[in-house]
This record gives sequence, C-alpha cells and structure tokens, in this order.
Amino acid sequence: MSASGKTFYLETFGCQMNAHDSEKVIGTLLREGYTQVETEADAGLILYNTCSIRDKAEQKVFHRLNDGKSLYKQGKRFAVLGCVAQQEGERIFERAPHVSLVSGSASYRRLPEMLARLEADEKRITGLDDRQTEETFETEFTARGNPHRGYITIIEGCDKFCAYCVVPYTRGKERSRTVASVLAEAQAMAAAGYTDVQLLGQNVNSWRDPAGQLTFADLLRAVGAIPGLRRVRFTTSHPRDFTPEIVRAIDEVPTLCDHVHLPVQSGSTRILAAMQREYTREWYLERIGWIRAAQRPISLTSDIIVGFPGETEGDFEDTLSLLDAAQFDAIFAFKYSPRPNTPALTLADSVPEEVKMERLQRLNERQREIQKCNYQSAVGQIVEVMVEGNNAARGQVIGRSSQNKTVNFTVDSPIFPASGTYLPVRITQAFPNSLVGIADPAAVSSNSEAQACLL
Ligand code: 5AD
Ligand code: SF4
Repeated sequence: MSASGKTFYLETFGCQMNAHDSEKVIGTLLREGYTQVETEADAGLILYNTCSIRDKAEQKVFHRLNDGKSLYKQGKRFAVLGCVAQQEGERIFERAPHVSLVSGSASYRRLPEMLARLEADEKRITGLDDRQTEETFETEFTARGNPHRGYITIIEGCDKFCAYCVVPYTRGKERSRTVASVLAEAQAMAAAGYTDVQLLGQNVNSWRDPAGQLTFADLLRAVGAIPGLRRVRFTTSHPRDFTPEIVRAIDEVPTLCDHVHLPVQSGSTRILAAMQREYTREWYLERIGWIRAAQRPISLTSDIIVGFPGETEGDFEDTLSLLDAAQFDAIFAFKYSPRPNTPALTLADSVPEEVKMERLQRLNERQREIQKCNYQSAVGQIVEVMVEGNNAARGQVIGRSSQNKTVNFTVDSPIFPASGTYLPVRITQAFPNSLVGIADPAAVSSNSEAQACLL
C-alpha cells in the first residue's frame, strides 16, 4: 500500500441499503486498523460503493474510476464494491486495470481477508457470490454516521425478479436476519441513544424469522416496543407481500411511523404483468384502501417507472390516473433503463427517449399538483418534528415529521435546539415538498425534554 499507510476514502452511490452497507464496511475497515480520510488525495485506499439500478448510476462509477487512474501511479489502491462490482465482476479489471479489489455486497463478511490480501499487494482480488450465499453480513462494528437516527438491515437480497430489475442479480437471494439479532442490534442502538431506527431491506414485507414463525408485522411490533426508541420506520415494501397486519401494527404501536413507501411502478395492469410484478392495479389500490382506512394519518410514497417496453399512451394515462386515486405524498419517478441480465432486456426498448422524457415530466407535474394540495392540508396542525439541523442564514431549524416530511421551522429562542430533539411544531405554510412552521411555545413549555434541549 502507499505511503499514506492504512488510510481510506469511501464514496457511496445509490440507495439506503448501500448507504448502510457503507457504514458496515467503514466499521470493518476501522476495526482492521484503517483511518478514514475526507479526500482521495489523503487516502491509501479508495473505495467506491456502487449502484447499477440504472445505466446512468453505473456510468458515473466508471467516470470516477477513469478520473482516478493517475492516483494509482502514486501508490493508491482502488476497490469497487456493491452492485456494479457484483454485476460486472472481473470485467471491471479489464475496463479499469488500476482496480485491485471487486466485491459484491453478499461477500462483505469476507472483507477482512480480502483487505489482508490487498495489503500484501495482491492484484485482482474478488468477492463475487452470485446468489450462492445463505448468510447475512452481521457486524457489531457498524460506523453509523448519525448519532440519533440509524438503519438496521433486516433482510438482504431479493427473490422477486421484476423484469426490469438488476437487484436479484447484484444482491443475491433473500436472506432474513434472525429476530434475535435484529432485536439485539435495535436494543444496542437504543442503549447508545438512538431514538429513530429504519428497518431496511429490498422487500421488508417478505421478512420471516429464519428460526421461527414470526412475520414482518410481528417484528415491527417487537422493535416498536423497545424502550428508548421513539420512531421506527421501514423500507421498502412490496405490494405483493404487504398485509393488513402491517397497517394494524402501525395503528396500535405508537412508535411506528405514519409512513409507508409502497412502490407501484405502473398504473396499467398490462404493464404490471409485463414487469412481472404479480399484481394488478386493483390489487394495489386495495392495499392503498387498507392504509387509508387506518386510524392514523399514514403518508404514502411510491416509485414509478415510465417508458417500460410496450408502454402506450393509454398505459401511461392509467399511471396518471393512479396518482389521482392514490394521492401519494411523494413519488420517485424514473425513465426505464435496460439492465444487464434482466428478463426485460430481451424486449425492445421501444419507447423513444423523448417520449420517456415527456412522460416523466407530465407525471411529475401531475404529482406536484397533488402534493401542493395534500401538503396544504397540514397547515394549522401540530406535528412532532425530530430536529436534524439548522439553516442559520434563514434562522430556521430543519427537521422531519413522523410522516417523513421535511419541516423547516422557527423557535422562540436565540439558540437552535440540538439535533435529535423532538419538538411539537405548528404548521403555518406548505410547499409541494416541505412544510414551514413555528415550534409551538405552549406545547414546548409542557415538554421538559424538549425544553432542556432548547437551552
Ligand atoms: N430502470 C428504471 N428504474 C428502475 N428502477 C429499478 N430498476 C429500474 C430500471 N431498470 C426503479 C424502481 C425501483 C427504484 C428503486 O428504482 O422504481 O423501485
Ligand atoms: Fe441499491 Fe439497487 Fe442501486 Fe444496488 S442497484 S445500490 S440495491 S438501488
């Protein structure tokens, strides 16, 4: 390794699963005696934890690697982790010969051994499991970046094989962690002062305790009952495995947040079939009905793909009308991007780029109108906000509601409340993506915990 010694720089691309994997990888590196640095220039080892969900994300990584070529000559070493690593495997060594280590997420438990080989200046080290692994990556050395809010993986991999999606090939088969290990991690986080945890998996609804009969709804109740935890979130849900028991758990367990992210992908039953989603528009709307019938005001968000092969204007209009029916609080919308290994790759990418672009724009415009209206309905309400930071220039505190909405608010105090504080905020104004408010002085004075943090 280089003169910089055992120092590393790690950059993450992609989803929350990747962000959390990086926390585990960082913990592993620290335990192996490495020091994290802020820039590539200061690092002996440069790691990219990569995403391949769409072509653009993948290309970004290869551009970065290309830019780093000259650093290799200075003795720095490169590692490519995550989804592009698993997808491209040894081809990465051909495209970027200065890379020494390539590892998919299902091989991270072997990282210490791979790092030792890297230190011995071995070239072309691989960890490519390719759906072989039954094990999850358990580590007690997760280096969480936030002291109040943190992720917990409950299930790794995916067995759904949606026609467009690369994840089953990059993250391996579905592996649930045991209830004992999930609860132990959540309890340890609560003991360390965490109050907000987010349970993670590609499809959290298909979690099953490998050693017993417990379902995901049971796990939610168990995590929600841990003393000290105040907010429990979960993502991502799959409509196929989403049950009424999950809604019942949210209704009954106050710590479970008022938010469900339930990707629909398309409002057209014909396209859903082509996507191999294994549900219809009506099936999806039935689940929305369960969520809307809850006692609590559960916020709904979703993912949508436009321009899947064969999507007609009529199919797309079905997606637009689904927005009206579902009344999402936010959507993440994407243009279809053909991915290696996926079943849809055999279909012609038939929707022209301009049409994909136009549909994406129309979709986002329709959703913006819906959000304008939905967010407006919060004006006048008092919502509990967890403080995440502040914008000193604007004199505003930045936080998040149980519904996962951003709330920017002012406090009647010269000192901003600390991050991690929970405050009741009266909503005074709404934008399509955020709320504005004032920390409620009456409620604050009756809330000693909040007041302590205000000082
Ligand atoms: N093209 C475009 N979007 C995709 N997604 C997954 N695969 C693709 C693809 N090939 C979207 C889905 C998924 C989100 C994480 O990314 O909407 O829910
Ligand atoms: Fe996450 Fe999927 Fe991207 Fe992998 S390909 S980082 S699982 S979004």
